Amino acid sequence: MERLDEYMSRSIEMFERAKRVTPGGVHSPVRAFKNVATYPRFIEKAEGCYLYDEDQKKYLDFCMSWGPLILGHQDPEIKEAVLSALDRGWSYGATERYSLELAEWLVDHVPHVEMVRFVSSGTEAVMSALRLARAATKKDKIVKFDGCYHGHVDSMLVASGSGLAEQAKPDSDGVSLSTAAETLVCPLGNLSALCEILDAHSVAAVIIEPLPANFGLLVQDQSFLEGVAYECKKRGVLLIFDEVISGFRVALGGMAERTGIKPDLVTYGKIIGGGFPVGAFGGRKEIMELLAPCGQVYQAGTLSGNPVAMVAGLSTLRKIKKNNPYGDLATKVQRLQTEAPTNTQSGAQIKTFAYGSLFWMVMSRSTIPDVITTPSDIPKDMKQLYGDFYPHLLERGVYLAPSGFEVGFMSMAHTDAHIDTLILSLREVAERF
Ligand SMILES: Cc1ncc(COP(=O)(O)O)c(C=O)c1O
Repeated sequence: MERLDEYMSRSIEMFERAKRVTPGGVHSPVRAFKNVATYPRFIEKAEGCYLYDEDQKKYLDFCMSWGPLILGHQDPEIKEAVLSALDRGWSYGATERYSLELAEWLVDHVPHVEMVRFVSSGTEAVMSALRLARAATKKDKIVKFDGCYHGHVDSMLVASGSGLAEQAKPDSDGVSLSTAAETLVCPLGNLSALCEILDAHSVAAVIIEPLPANFGLLVQDQSFLEGVAYECKKRGVLLIFDEVISGFRVALGGMAERTGIKPDLVTYGKIIGGGFPVGAFGGRKEIMELLAPCGQVYQAGTLSGNPVAMVAGLSTLRKIKKNNPYGDLATKVQRLQTEAPTNTQSGAQIKTFAYGSLFWMVMSRSTIPDVITTPSDIPKDMKQLYGDFYPHLLERGVYLAPSGFEVGFMSMAHTDAHIDTLILSLREVAERF
């Protein structure tokens, strides 16, 4: 197919400028479009479900800032609430009404959150929850699952060692061997491997994305998640649900509500800040009260509970509750699943996997399994095919996540007409690809 970059001269020029002053030109790696055969677009503004770039091109957005914008860009109610908060100043570094109201809202609506503390990112939430779990259990090791992402916390940037109960090795330069040694990596879906690890080591907590959505969409069996909870409880190991993506996206109570499993601690990010930098961790009162100033676990933040971000999060959650969009979002995603093309002109297969408002398109020249639950189920050629397919969608004004390992996010701003456009664009590209 044709080369497509000619019309994006300002984005290219700005990206070259950015690379001179910022590593790789970006402030978060996947924004560099390394996995797709085109340049990153510099976005000038966003509204509803559209992005507008510096070259005046408009894109139908299904990345939605990587998940926080379940209401769409610039939702008028959130905007009004944020603007009125700004009128009262934007940081006090003191106790204030909005972090109180957001905390009360969470405790009232999420049964396993008896207490909560706000931070500024999902990474910070995970880092703090792990520290708390270690303090609560007086144990050091943490078990994570291969294929789950928990932000760039040192101890979570690890890959499996050679044996099941082996300690992990650093996945990133700069993570010390001793830090990596505190983490044990277990394969997703493998309960007996988890039991082996829990029996062989002194484990403080098991952390899991109950809906793994950072290595494609690896939907887990209910029985596996229940098994994880059971084996943790039996041994006095804390269970941490990382709901940075799934929290408030698949239900108000996230995957905990969908599965009926009550984690000891939960971490949030993304939707909880309505598009502003917020993270949170919460859970059982007696664990949360180990935090300073009640207890001896230190955790703090200059901008934690920032009032403008708290207002954005609170108004977002209130609007979600009022509109209960989950059925409608899932229906839209199901339409995409049934109507998206299933193969390309040159014979590659396409399958669309989905859960609630999340979707993931897999492409391969070999047979794609009907169920994908672990990273090793993902066809090896998926990354390359998606990367080649992607620019042609962008050219048609459709902006999916710029990596085949990332999921798509449906928002309340997407209408049936937008889904029509997505399906039509996918078909057009598939017919020529
Ligand atoms: C499940 C999960 N946990 C933690 C994080 C880290 O959150 P943040 O990027 O806000 O630091 C992410 C980010 O995508 C995530 O998806």
